Amino acid sequence: MAYDHHDKAGNQGDVVKHVALIAALDTIVAAQPGRKFSYADVFAGHPWHHLLTGNEWKSGIGKLHRNSGLNGNPHIGLWSKWYLDGRPDLLYGMYPGSSVIAWDVCRYRNIPVRLSLWDISPDVIRDLMVVFGDGKHSIHGRPAVADEQDLSEADFILIDPPGLQSRNQPAYPAWDDLVRLADSVSDQAGFLIWLPVNANTSGGKGNVRECQHASDCRENSVGRNWHVTKVRWSIGGRTIGCQLVYRLPADAVSALRIAVDHVTHCVGWCVSHFPDSNGLRL
Ligand SMILES: C[S@@+](CC[C@H](N)C(=O)[O-])C[C@H]1O[C@@H](n2cnc3c(N)ncnc32)[C@H](O)[C@@H]1O
Repeated sequence: MAYDHHDKAGNQGDVVKHVALIAALDTIVAAQPGRKFSYADVFAGHPWHHLLTGNEWKSGIGKLHRNSGLNGNPHIGLWSKWYLDGRPDLLYGMYPGSSVIAWDVCRYRNIPVRLSLWDISPDVIRDLMVVFGDGKHSIHGRPAVADEQDLSEADFILIDPPGLQSRNQPAYPAWDDLVRLADSVSDQAGFLIWLPVNANTSGGKGNVRECQHASDCRENSVGRNWHVTKVRWSIGGRTIGCQLVYRLPADAVSALRIAVDHVTHCVGWCVSHFPDSNGLRL
């Protein structure tokens, strides 16, 4: 079955990714007042999702709704005010996708923004066209290709694949494909990659270990002088957490880490950063 983010919207992975996106992007755009910004999202997903019974949002935003601690961090305060507050119950409401969140951050800072969005799902492209199809943005109904113009001219790229290639999911992108997309941006631009951390199923029940692939991607990223933040939200199951891989200006790295530390503290998940503040790698 084709991947559909509607079922997953607002889950643990979205919490980590969207808080990180707001913190990093806001720090970058706030430092460039008045300049037109170019945002690229190579696995864009739908612009909006309905929050329905039985979907995964209950384990993510459902645990944070009405948590007064969220306002202890300015970026999480914005995320909460824009998307979680104002409804007595999140059920039957809407939660945004990353394209709308990026748009909101730029407009909050009064920055004109051009979005370049890619997705292979016809349903996603239809919805993106409804929202962003006014001719001011680029919407591509195909996979992004390394070094294409909309990528090499971007100021920021979000790389948020449905998963990584495996025996069960041969059509998903491989780690090397994501590296090529990240390498498409200029040295001045930033990128943020989201990756699942799956369990090493051979570890059995109880407090399972992460799979080797997750630690390999992290090691490879740190070896490239990229930064990694790993969040673990579950001791067992299939997807036990996620990793963010990023190359960003130093103040955006710091804002991202502070925001992810804060939101994970509010919800009780574990977080680690690589290299850590003492420069330790893995
Ligand atoms: C995790 S979802 C994106 C979620 C979105 N970035 C957000 O945070 O709201 C991944 C998306 O990638 C799309 N997709 C899958 N394979 C793709 C490919 N090779 N190129 C572009 N998009 C792809 C799926 O249709 C899906 O909408």
